[in-house]
Amino acid sequence: SVLEMEVEQINKGHYDHYMQKEIHEQPESLTTTMRGRLIRGGSSKSKTVLLGGLKDHLKTIRRSRRIVFIGCGTSYNAALAARPILEELSGVPVTMEIASDLLDRQGPIYREDTAIFVSQSGETADTLLALQYALDNGALCVGITNTVGSAIARNTHCGVHINAGAEIGVASTKAYTSQIVVMAMLALAIGGDTISNEARREAIIDGLFDLPNKVREVLKQDQEMKDLAKLLISEQSLLVFGRGFNYATALEGALKVKEVALMHSEGILAGEMKHGPLALVDENLPIIVLATRDACFSKQQSVIQQLHARKGRLIVMCSKGDAASVCPAESCRIIEVPHVEDCLQPVINIIPLQLLAYHLTVLRGFNVDQPRNLAKSVTTQ
Ligand code: G6P
Repeated sequence: SVLEMEVEQINKGHYDHYMQKEIHEQPESLTTTMRGRLIRGGSSKSKTVLLGGLKDHLKTIRRSRRIVFIGCGTSYNAALAARPILEELSGVPVTMEIASDLLDRQGPIYREDTAIFVSQSGETADTLLALQYALDNGALCVGITNTVGSAIARNTHCGVHINAGAEIGVASTKAYTSQIVVMAMLALAIGGDTISNEARREAIIDGLFDLPNKVREVLKQDQEMKDLAKLLISEQSLLVFGRGFNYATALEGALKVKEVALMHSEGILAGEMKHGPLALVDENLPIIVLATRDACFSKQQSVIQQLHARKGRLIVMCSKGDAASVCPAESCRIIEVPHVEDCLQPVINIIPLQLLAYHLTVLRGFNVDQPRNLAKSVTTQ
């Protein structure tokens, strides 16, 4: 109806699509996610994280034998992005489960496990069934959702709301970055204040405070991503290579391109390159390599060299000022992004890929907010 159309226009503000609006509002959604949860005390008190919904369970989580992340789609990818920092700060082994796969296998879940359910909607059928399964097996169940009062929020023992605000576009964008930030805060909360990791904790907390500004900075790449989308408009396929903290970015970037732009895209763990993917490389197939500065940087430099030696068509994402170190021959296209603390870099790096997927979709003439065959919330198995 005309009224519905007008309401929609009001909700979208000056944006053409919800996905576009939700990408651009990430500085604000991340600020809301962190509000009241990060504490920078006075000179004597160090910086800490306060997650009200978890504080009574932190001891149990710290003592658990294993932390298992469970989710689907983008929510799974967000958990994958947070896995390294949770392992590092907690010292507890962290494993990953796609909800449907856990159910298919009836995989082992024990009383000594902490199972963390990540879901934007809080209503995804597979995730909800996996939750029931974990409850039956006696695990401590934690929910991370964007929807107060959702089934997952209600049925878990405790949890954290990501407070990203309603997300309308079927392709999840702002919920993804807020989920990562919540799980980074969760890692800080579980890790606790030990002297040995004090400097690291403070760097992450400072990084969180500054993250909305860095997100605002990377959003300025909008036009560059539109230009890149124009170059890729009629491609059949796009590969994304990542590793370490940004393996998840590769999966999530590829998922965005596939679900909205309806283009085949695959996220590849760069460490597996020689075990198959290298066979695909030629002068035609576009490949995005994520090579921002972190402990894996030199390994990614050598991946770039090897792809280059096979005449790969490279688009390299690197930290500001690193263009020459990742691509001396000027033979590749560069996406330069602001540098942040390594565990927060996935929040920055996904944004150019969200913009790319958005522009590709519009240029290819597809429905951005409601891709064919997909639903925002999959409530059937
Ligand atoms: C659907 C949506 C995805 C979402 C996934 C998990 O596939 O289209 O965008 O990532 O479900 O949804 P959840 O609400 O559990 O995060």
